[in-house]
Amino acid sequence: MSGKVQQLIIYYFSGTGNARTVASWIAEESRARSIPTEVFDIAMIDRKHITSPPAGTLIGFISPTHGFNYPPASMYFLFRFPRSRGNRMFLMNTRAGMKLSKWFVPGLSGIALWLPAIVLLFKGYRITGLRSIDLPSNWISFHPGLKEKVVESIYAHCKKTSQGFARKILDGKKVYTAFRDILQDILISPVAIGYFFVGRFMLAKTFYANENCDKCDLCIKNCPVKAILTVDKRPFWSYRCESCMRCMNSCPKRAIEAAHGYIVGIMCLINMVIITMFWKWVAVFITIPEHNGWVKLLVSITGWGITFISLVVSYRLYHYLLRVPGLRLIFYYTSLTRFRFWRRYKPTKKMISQLPS
Ligand SMILES: Cc1cc2nc3c(=O)[nH]c(=O)nc-3n(C[C@H](O)[C@H](O)[C@H](O)COP(=O)(O)O)c2cc1C
Repeated sequence: MSGKVQQLIIYYFSGTGNARTVASWIAEESRARSIPTEVFDIAMIDRKHITSPPAGTLIGFISPTHGFNYPPASMYFLFRFPRSRGNRMFLMNTRAGMKLSKWFVPGLSGIALWLPAIVLLFKGYRITGLRSIDLPSNWISFHPGLKEKVVESIYAHCKKTSQGFARKILDGKKVYTAFRDILQDILISPVAIGYFFVGRFMLAKTFYANENCDKCDLCIKNCPVKAILTVDKRPFWSYRCESCMRCMNSCPKRAIEAAHGYIVGIMCLINMVIITMFWKWVAVFITIPEHNGWVKLLVSITGWGITFISLVVSYRLYHYLLRVPGLRLIFYYTSLTRFRFWRRYKPTKKMISQLPS
């Protein structure tokens, strides 16, 4: 197969626009070379219409990193991607970039690029590019949003790296920048697995709409995975939620919060009271052999099961309890996102004006 790219198709998933921006920077470079280029948001397309790419077509996939992995929406998309007979493909992940003084601090990829790369190799693709781009972190339920000046400076830096990557890939070169991080990625991979099976479900249960919510339903309409339902006439985050942060960062009323107080409180209650009481009750009927490895595993799985069920039930309850004025105040003031200094992450006007049309 010749090195010349005859067509470029980019697919992306994006919560708050970083992956979309990288897609548009790369598309701009490609169009400047008169290469026919198409860009698709995977949340907006019907996967059934995607067919095997014609020869000479370069495929790109760009997604944020969630818990040291691609979010499930991205993974499921790639796992079901049609087979190829040797098309070139590049994979990119946007990560949580930060800035300390004048140094750009990168995020962590974990298995985000490696797992899809292996799957796509088996599907017949030739992986010619693996690169992370450290755009500003959008993980607002975890830390306050970065200041505008910092965000703009990280953006300008990432634009150059994305364009440099695009030029090399479109010239037919191989770019495996991700290999630089392979050691730390391997070390962090167990956390990625833990996040996939446990962490992401807990995060999805921390969102709620405060008293500023005017029920405009923008969060529901814009959710890329259709995870927000209306329960008791208010938004309710179901287990489909990928915690992509689109709703929290773009709510025009700044009404969406993370329930930090609730999650700390409920985890203490589950672990110190519910699980302890459960084992005391079990001990009335049977004696548990504590030194048996299998029994330890069973105890641990049971603990997680109880945690999960208690979390589901309590989150529903929490949603209704938000109606009770006294409790509502406690819930509101134990949320960190409520405080003014806990900024949201939004591309600034300057950044939007610099985006390719
Ligand atoms: C729930 C969640 C988990 C995240 N996990 C990671 C991570 O493991 N490593 C990392 O570098 N960035 C992580 N981030 C940051 C995002 O990947 C990063 O800000 C990305 O650029 C967002 O892209 P988007 O705007 O296209 O959604 C996480 C963000 C969220 C919301």
